Amino acid sequence: SLQPVILSGGSGTRLWPASREQYPKQLLPLTADETLLQITATRLRQLSGIEVAQPIVVTNEDHRFIIAEQLRQIGKPSNHIVLEPVGRNTAPAMELAAQVAQLDGADPVLLVMPADHVVTNEAAFCVAMQEGYAQASAGALVTFGIVPDRAETGYGYIRVGDKLGGAATARQLAAFVEKPNAERAAEYVASGQYLWNSGIFMMKASVWRRALTALKPAMAGACSDAVGKAARDADFIRVDKAAFTACPSDSIDYAVMEKLGQHPELGAGVVVPLDAGWSDVGAWDALWQVSGKDAAGNVTRGDVMLHDTQDSLIFAGSRLVAAVGVKDVIVVETPDAVMVADKANAQDVKAIVSRLKSEG
Ligand code: GDD
Ligand code: MG
Repeated sequence: SLQPVILSGGSGTRLWPASREQYPKQLLPLTADETLLQITATRLRQLSGIEVAQPIVVTNEDHRFIIAEQLRQIGKPSNHIVLEPVGRNTAPAMELAAQVAQLDGADPVLLVMPADHVVTNEAAFCVAMQEGYAQASAGALVTFGIVPDRAETGYGYIRVGDKLGGAATARQLAAFVEKPNAERAAEYVASGQYLWNSGIFMMKASVWRRALTALKPAMAGACSDAVGKAARDADFIRVDKAAFTACPSDSIDYAVMEKLGQHPELGAGVVVPLDAGWSDVGAWDALWQVSGKDAAGNVTRGDVMLHDTQDSLIFAGSRLVAAVGVKDVIVVETPDAVMVADKANAQDVKAIVSRLKSEG
């Protein structure tokens, strides 16, 4: 069976002021009436022929009630909401999920999905998942690759190897490079041999755990300790604080995916191309890109009035927001903060957030 695992640990600083530490982007209705978390939890609706379990959600302890409530609202409750007392990045989060998935003695295929991605074509997404499932069931460590359209340095890059016998689109993963520098990224894109790593992974729980135990034994050990001493509280699994705090921090990409090349004994790395309107909505410009627009190219939410305005994103949270004669701007209004930015500078919003943090 397929066990979805939703990682919901990030805080999404570049989407300030809508995204806050207490209410991060994945818990907001940014692209539709549903939140990114809710949309992620329903993304497998069109998957057929595979039994899909209730999702395991791994999250920061502070968000537990919002998460439980949002999943209940859409009829996708989770009885395994794993609570981290501190963030230790994605590799430990996935290890906790893998251990929880095996508590009843089963060894399902895990589908690890970040809670903050947008996928506009669910049908195509499910076809790729189907293909990944066949590979993962046979013991592979599967990633899903996106055709790059720019030399983005915030992503992982996958060098695509030979086509696998009998597979429709799955290929060997020839190399994995997490977040290369700008020069490298440009080379990779120009070569035409690389795909972006979507950050969505599929593999059997046992395959993941064997890899992590071999590559990061201290991390695997700390997670076993944290799950072994976890407290169960209805649907929440609160992992042991001291044990998990002692866990080293690292991402799935650096801890495991980059190392597969040197460790063929851990299983085959496989990449399944994903052409499903994927986007990681990291910042406001990406959100503008993936959202439905009016005839003038504007994306609006709430009480907004526009005159002679183009290609802008204007969100009104609590008041009327009007824009006149502007192009390529971002305006986000919330009860306690208003942000105005040039769309080309959307990435720099995080500079304001760091100043807010340091200036208290
Ligand atoms: N539970 C939990 N705990 N979740 C976490 C934690 C944590 O400590 N840290 C991050 N996450 C969640 C984030 O909320 C996000 O949904 C997902 O895991 C990925 O983490 P990011 O921090 O957003 O990773 P990234 O964007 O820098 O890089 C990853 O995604 C890219 C695509 O968006 C990598 O996998 C890249 O290779 C990939 O290209
Ligand atoms: Mg991300």
